[in-house]
Amino acid sequence: MSKPLFIRNANQILTFQGSSQAPLTKEKMGKPYVIEGGSVWVEDGKIQDIGSDEELAGRYREKLTEAEEIDATGKVLSPGLVDPHTHVVYGGSREEEFQMRLNGKSYMEIMNAGGGIHATTRATQDTDEEQLYEESKSRLDQFFLHGVTTVEAKSGYGLSLEHELKQLRVAKRLNEDHAMDVVSTFMGAHAVPMDLKETPEVFVDHVINEMIPEVAKEELAEFNDVFCEKGVFTPEQSRRILEAGKEYGLKPKIHADEIEPYAGAELAAEVGAVSADHLLKASDEGVKRMAEQGVVGVLLPGTAFFLMAESANGRKMIDQGVPVALATDCNPGSSPTVSQPFIMNLGALKMGMTMEEVLSAVTINAAHAINRGQEVGSIEKGKQADLVLFDVPNYMKLQYHYGMNHTHTVVKNGKVVVE
Ligand code: NIG
Ligand code: FE
Repeated sequence: MSKPLFIRNANQILTFQGSSQAPLTKEKMGKPYVIEGGSVWVEDGKIQDIGSDEELAGRYREKLTEAEEIDATGKVLSPGLVDPHTHVVYGGSREEEFQMRLNGKSYMEIMNAGGGIHATTRATQDTDEEQLYEESKSRLDQFFLHGVTTVEAKSGYGLSLEHELKQLRVAKRLNEDHAMDVVSTFMGAHAVPMDLKETPEVFVDHVINEMIPEVAKEELAEFNDVFCEKGVFTPEQSRRILEAGKEYGLKPKIHADEIEPYAGAELAAEVGAVSADHLLKASDEGVKRMAEQGVVGVLLPGTAFFLMAESANGRKMIDQGVPVALATDCNPGSSPTVSQPFIMNLGALKMGMTMEEVLSAVTINAAHAINRGQEVGSIEKGKQADLVLFDVPNYMKLQYHYGMNHTHTVVKNGKVVVE
């Protein structure tokens, strides 16, 4: 039994009260869910109580001496940040490609010439499981330092049964061994391997008939994702893969309309995807259907920033009723970062989102994007005590001082992991 934790006298507590059942949309995304001045009592890894310091000190008077205390004076207490879209398990790195892009080559040109995802696939295949585990583990440590307490992690740099399983086993072990919660997504359909370029259907069949059944059998993933993009997987191929996953209990997700419009948002609504991600070129009709079906739009402004592209229209999607979440897309090619705080800045500066909307998007809506809305993403009684204390006196300063990491203390399941 761990000691109770008493977080005392925060300047502001961002609660997102009442949002565990469904993601926030429209005006509800932009409301400030703020308690001015308050404390939180944590026990058995859960949030037990929220109230004024005096109230809680009175109510838990008998346990006060045994409790560990955190002085939150002058700081903002937020739910631990959730990152609902990462490719955090990978081998190698691609700074030379960044240099090539600075010299005028495009992301897709590099990929079609065998670089990009293919380069990371070769590096990941060449990295053994232990090494992959160690490298990914240190990235999770970095996520903690940026206030992130839950990450989604995709496979998709194996592109063969053996190496896809290796990637997913690493994610599973990290979820078990590391304090971070790691939620796994199978993404065998991340690219068509170079040797099957001329016969993509052969690979699609392989994903459907060999990979998905094995991933499901070993219980290595909750979600199934596809890179639906011109020159990668067509909407028809994507539909087949996502429908096949559903039969094995894998919930659909989709990389949609990133580089060119391709009716990916429409497909997400049609197959009942939990989220559609990227959406830079999503059509109005697709966005409308996502809103109708409650598909979370996971926007990745760091990827747009790093690929020097125009960001997705977050403002418009929120106005049309899409529940929007924000993620890093942490990967070695299009978004080599773990900084959700910087992604928050981009949400405000590049997508026209308000400060309050940005906060909903990296907490409760991000949790809903990976089906964790009931466990994490808000500060409410009974939820996991995943909390981050930011060293700013009010939440507006998280946005105002941009490009900085204000993370001060991180609590995961009731235990201090960063102080
Ligand atoms: O989400 N868009 C496709 N996949 C990743 C990029 C992967 C890579 O470049 O290695 C993404 O941006
Ligand atoms: Fe991605």
